[in-house]
Parts: sequence; C-alpha cells; structure tokens
Amino acid sequence: MTAYPGRVPQQAYAWARGHPVMADGLLGLVLLACSTDQLRISPVTTALAAATVNALLALAVALRRRATVAAFGMVAVLGLAQAVFGFRAYGGAAVPALQPTMTDAAIVVLLAALAARRPRRESLAGLALCLVGSGIAIYGWAFARSSAGLLLLAVVALSATFTAAWVLGDSAALRRARYLSLEERLASAERTADLARTRAQAVEESAARLRRIERDLHDGAQVRLTALAMTLGEIKETVSGQAAPAGVLALASQAHQTAKDTLAELRDLARGIHPPALDRGLDPALHALTETSGMPVSLDIVIAARPSPAIEAIVYFSAAELLANATKHAGASRVTITVRSTGQGGVRLTVADDGAGGALVTDGGGLAGLRERVGTVDGHMCIDSPAGGPTIVTIDLPGHA
Ligand SMILES: Nc1ncnc2c1ncn2[C@@H]1O[C@H](COP(=O)(O)OP(=O)(O)OP(=O)(O)O)[C@@H](O)[C@H]1O
Ligand SMILES: [Mg+2]
Repeated sequence: MTAYPGRVPQQAYAWARGHPVMADGLLGLVLLACSTDQLRISPVTTALAAATVNALLALAVALRRRATVAAFGMVAVLGLAQAVFGFRAYGGAAVPALQPTMTDAAIVVLLAALAARRPRRESLAGLALCLVGSGIAIYGWAFARSSAGLLLLAVVALSATFTAAWVLGDSAALRRARYLSLEERLASAERTADLARTRAQAVEESAARLRRIERDLHDGAQVRLTALAMTLGEIKETVSGQAAPAGVLALASQAHQTAKDTLAELRDLARGIHPPALDRGLDPALHALTETSGMPVSLDIVIAARPSPAIEAIVYFSAAELLANATKHAGASRVTITVRSTGQGGVRLTVADDGAGGALVTDGGGLAGLRERVGTVDGHMCIDSPAGGPTIVTIDLPGHA
C-alpha cells in the first residue's frame, strides 16, 4: 500500500481507533516522557517519588477507557495534592515530588474521557473538581509570585483548558448516543422487514397448503365416494328389477342417498377450503360464485395483473361473505361486485347492495372474520352502511401477502 504524507494524521487516527488500548498506552508514555527532567532532582528518593507521581498520572491515561472513574479519581487526588503541596505557598516549603509537570496534561485527558464516557452529572462534578483544583493552584502561585498578569493568564488558561476538554468529551458522548440510536432504529427497521417477510411467507404457504388439501380431497376421497355412490346406484337398479329379500331395496336406496349427500357435503367443504375455480383466476371464480347466488348480481372485474394466490383467496372469500350478507340481511334487490387494480399491484374489492343498511362488525360474525383476514396481509376494510342503506363495503389489499 502506498503511503501519502498528507494522509499520515488520518492514518494515525484510524490506527488509534482500531487499537484503543495501545493508543492509550502510547499517549501515557508520551506524557511520562515529558517529565523525565524530574529524575534529576536530588536526592534520589525525591526523584523516585516524583517519578511515581508522574507514572501514576500516565497509568491513569492508559486506563482511561477501562476504568474511567477510578483513573479520573486517581489523577484528581494527585492533582489536588500537587495544587496544595506543590508550590512554595502558604508560608511553607513546596514538596518537590509534587511539583506540577507537563504530565499533568493527564488530568485534562481524563476529564475529557469522563465527559465522553460517563453521565453528565458525573462529568460536571469532575469539571467542578478540576476548576477548584485550578483555583487552589493559582492561590498557591499567588503566594509564590506576585505578577497579577501571569496569575490572570493562568486563571484564563486553566479554566479554558478544562472547560474545552469537558466540551470535547461531552460532544463525543452526544455523537456516540446519536449513532447508537440510529443503529437501534436501523436494527428495528430490519426486524420489522424480517417479520413482514416471514408473515408473508406464512400466509402464502398456508394458502398453498389449503389448496393442496382441496386437491387431495378432490382427487382422493371425492373420486372414491363418487365411485361408491355409482356402485350403490347400480345395486339399487339391479335389486329393483329382481325379487330381492324384503327391505334390501330400501337399504340400497338409503345407502345410495347417504353416499350422494356425503359427496355433496364433501364438495362444499372442499370449496370452502379452496374453490377449484380460483386456480384459473378471480374472474372465473367470482363468475361461478355469482351464478349460484339467489339474487341478481352484476360483476365487474378489471385487473392488470393476477394477485398472489393468498390474496386471490381473500378476495374470493370476502366477496362470498359479503354476497351472503346482502342476501341474508339486506333485503336488497341487487348487488354489485367490482374488482379493480390499485397502485403498486394492489387490488380493491367493492361489494354494494341497495338494501336496508345497518351492517355492523359483531364479535364472532363473518364481518369480524373478514376484517381479521384482511388485516393479516396489511389490507383495509371499510364498511359504509347507514340505516336505510345502501351498504358499500370496500376492501383494499396488496398484490401479495
Ligand atoms: N349487507 C348488509 N345489509 C344490512 N345488514 C347487514 C349487512 N351485512 C351485515 N349486516 C348486519 O351486520 C350483522 C353482522 O354481520 P356478520 O356478517 O358479521 O354476521 P352474520 O352474517 O350475522 O353471521 P355470519 O356471517 O357468521 O353468518 C348482521 O347480523 C346483520 O345484522
Ligand atoms: Mg355474515
């Protein structure tokens, strides 16, 4: 990979983001290196004490992500000790090992880390502590030096530095919170899309399963029952032309009738599961439905593309229930069924009658079942049925589940 000099800061930043522990350790070492001149203090015990103080400050920097509060506590205690004992102040002698050095920049780093990683309440307390420490240090300087200008500069510089560190850390925390909430929103949108996909799959699969059951009934039980009814019919014919034992003809007739009734019931059941005409599309299925209706129905279907099998089944069963309602409850003279394509491949079913009106969704009723069924595919049902009529029920469905 080619290295471009202009990109070095960017690359260093990217490396630091990728290796946070090493980057913090390195920063701690750099800060420690800023105080090596303290090793020249004599006696050697004082130099060692000074080195320990600076090493602890550097260690806090290295630990700023893993133990932010503890590390900040450590630098705060060391900083306050330096502010109180590090100057020739208050009439006493300064403690050489506690004299401030460049490594004290660790306090600024830790304050920024506190603001970036901890709640505002805690980081504001940290900022207040730093400002109090600065105040104590400046008070110490005031004893040691008399230049008002320098003191004013120190007040401004220290307060500005600590405040800037806090603001930087706090805005990083805000950015992270915003990023996390965006991530959460994205994750929840993904979950919703997943759920919609799974639900659509379940609806289509169940439509396909019902169709298979209807096929099995049609090709299996229905065929055998038809053969049985025919055989019984033949037996009845044969027996009726002969001098058979008493009661045999009646039994054969009864068996024949039962077989025919069962066949009719099975056909109705199969049609209720999945009308075979639906395999050829909504048009023939709805025509077959209206042809068997006891009242005049005008049917008008114009659809651009065939909806999925699950949607076709919902349209069909909705039309059947609404037609049955108009026949049973409305006292209508005619019913109009309209099916139209809507935008984005959807379909709209409208069933209108000129009856008395007053259609209501009641618990356990057919309309309540329809509303539920339509809702499983995010469809919408609207019932307009004022007293005195007319009744218009509109159902909007997507093109697929
Ligand atoms: N087209 C209509 N005109 C007038 N009243 C209606 C119409 N459709 C429904 N209703 C009224 O709304 C009520 C609820 O209808 P719904 O289809 O939910 O139940 P149902 O037809 O009585 O029973 P089910 O559908 O279970 O056979 C009906 O009992 C009827 O009083
Ligand atoms: Mg009904």
